[in-house]
Amino acid sequence: MSADAGKRTFAIVPAAGIGERMGQDKALLDLGGRSAIERIVATCRAAGVDGVLVVRRGDAEPLPDGLDVTVVTTGDKGEMSDSLRMALLKLPREAEAVLVFPVDHALVEADTVLALRAKLLQPGCTIALPLYRDRPGHPVAMTRAVFNEIDRAGRTLRDLVRRDPERVAVVPTSNHWVRADLDQPEDLRAARCALTGEPWSTVAQMYRHRSRRWYHPDPVPDARIERLVDAARYASTSSFIQAYSVIAVRDPELKAECARLCGGQQHIVEAPLFFAVCADLAKIARACADNGTTLQSTSFELFLQATIDAALLGQNLQLAVEAEGLGACMIGGARNHPIELAEKLHLPPHSFVVFGMTVGRPKDDPVPRGRMPLAGVLHWNRYDDSDLASVLRKADDGMREWARRTNAEQGGYNGRPVNETKGWAERMAKMWGGDSSYAEARKTLVDALRRLGFGMEE
Ligand SMILES: Cc1cc2nc3c(=O)[nH]c(=O)nc-3n(C[C@H](O)[C@H](O)[C@H](O)COP(=O)(O)O)c2cc1C
Repeated sequence: MSADAGKRTFAIVPAAGIGERMGQDKALLDLGGRSAIERIVATCRAAGVDGVLVVRRGDAEPLPDGLDVTVVTTGDKGEMSDSLRMALLKLPREAEAVLVFPVDHALVEADTVLALRAKLLQPGCTIALPLYRDRPGHPVAMTRAVFNEIDRAGRTLRDLVRRDPERVAVVPTSNHWVRADLDQPEDLRAARCALTGEPWSTVAQMYRHRSRRWYHPDPVPDARIERLVDAARYASTSSFIQAYSVIAVRDPELKAECARLCGGQQHIVEAPLFFAVCADLAKIARACADNGTTLQSTSFELFLQATIDAALLGQNLQLAVEAEGLGACMIGGARNHPIELAEKLHLPPHSFVVFGMTVGRPKDDPVPRGRMPLAGVLHWNRYDDSDLASVLRKADDGMREWARRTNAEQGGYNGRPVNETKGWAERMAKMWGGDSSYAEARKTLVDALRRLGFGMEE
C-alpha cells in the first residue's frame, strides 16, 4: 500500500466475533458483491493506510483469496479489547498510528479515513474519531503510544477514548455509516439498500423502530409538528369518522404536569415535545347537534372506533417521526389519571387521551427488542398453535438476550439492571395474571371514561 506524508498507519479490523445476532460471520457478509472485509481493505488502500491486520478466531472461515492483509488469530470469543490486545502483539514496529476499523463500519468511505489521518497530524491530537450528528463513531485513529495503552488488562477502546478528552479530536461527517452497526439482519438490509441506491423503504424504516426515552432539548419546530401530524392523520379511519385529536404540548410546566399524571415518567419532562393522542367524539357530537340528532355516546362500538382511529393515527405519527430521524415513545401512562389529564389539556366532553407520545432528537441508542417469532403471530388460513411451546420458548430467549445486552451495553434499563433470567412468558404471567398491579392501577378506568363521555354500554 502507498506511503504518504502522514504517520505510517496500520488498520486493525477486529473480526473475531461469530456474528451471533446477524446469523453469519460479519467479515464475510456480501455488501454489493464484495465482502465487508474486502470493502474495508479497499477503503484503507484508497486512504493510504500502510497495512491491515484482521483479527480472526482460529476456527473462522478463511478470508477471500488474495486479500492483502495480515491475519492475527485469537482464541477468544470476539471481545473487541481481546482482539486489539492480540493485534498489538503483531503490530509492525514501524507503525506510528493505528486505525481501529470494526467490520460493522464497512461502508465508511476513504474520505473519512483520510480526514482522520490528517487530524492525527495536528499538534496535540493523539486520537481522532468521526462524529455523525454530534455522536462519535468508527473507525477511531490514534497514535501508537495511545494504542499501546490497550495492553493494560481490562482496558477497552472506550477507556482509551474517554481517559483524556483533551487528546481527542473529532471529524464531523455526514456519513452515517460511522455510527451504523451490522448487528441485525435489518442492518444488512439497510446497507444493501444504500449500496444499490434503492430508496430507503417504509418497510425498512418499520424494522428499525425502537422506543426512545432520552432526548436532546432542542425544540421541534412548529412547521415540522404540523407536517408530521398532518401526514399521520392520513391513516385509515373507521367510516371516515376521524374521531381523534392531537394536543402538542411544549410548555415545560404543562409537560411536567402531564409527566406527573402519566406516572412520573422523566422522559416526558425531558422531551421537547409531548403529544396527547386523543379519541375525540366532540366533533361528531357537534355534527349531531347541528343536524338535530344526539350523539350515541353510550355506544361501545363508537368508543372502540374512536380509540382504534386514535391508535392508527398515533402509530402513523410515530413512524413519520422516526422516518425524519427523530425518536419517540408512546405513553400508556396517560390512562393513569384520565380525568385529571383531560382537564389539564382542556379536552371537551367525549374525549380522552388514549396514549401520549414523547418526541425529540434522541440521545439514547437502546438495544432493539426484536419481537416474538413470526409463527406466534402469522397463521395461514386458520389459527395454528401447534408450535406455541416453541414460540414461547423463543420469546423467552429473545427477552433474556435483550436483557443481557441491555445490561452489558447500556448498564441496564433506566439506570437499573434488568433481570436476565426472566423470560417473556414469566413477565406476562406476572403483569397480567393473578393480582396484577397493572390491572389494579387501571381498575377505575371504565368509570373514568364514562365520566368523560364514553358509554361502552351497548
Ligand atoms: C400504547 C403504548 C403505550 C406505551 N406506554 C409506555 C409508557 O407509558 N412508558 C414507556 O416508557 N413506554 C411505553 N410504551 C413503549 C413500549 O414499552 C415499547 O413499545 C415495547 O416495550 C417494545 O419496545 P420497542 O418499542 O422499543 O420495540 C408504550 C407502547 C405502546 C404501544
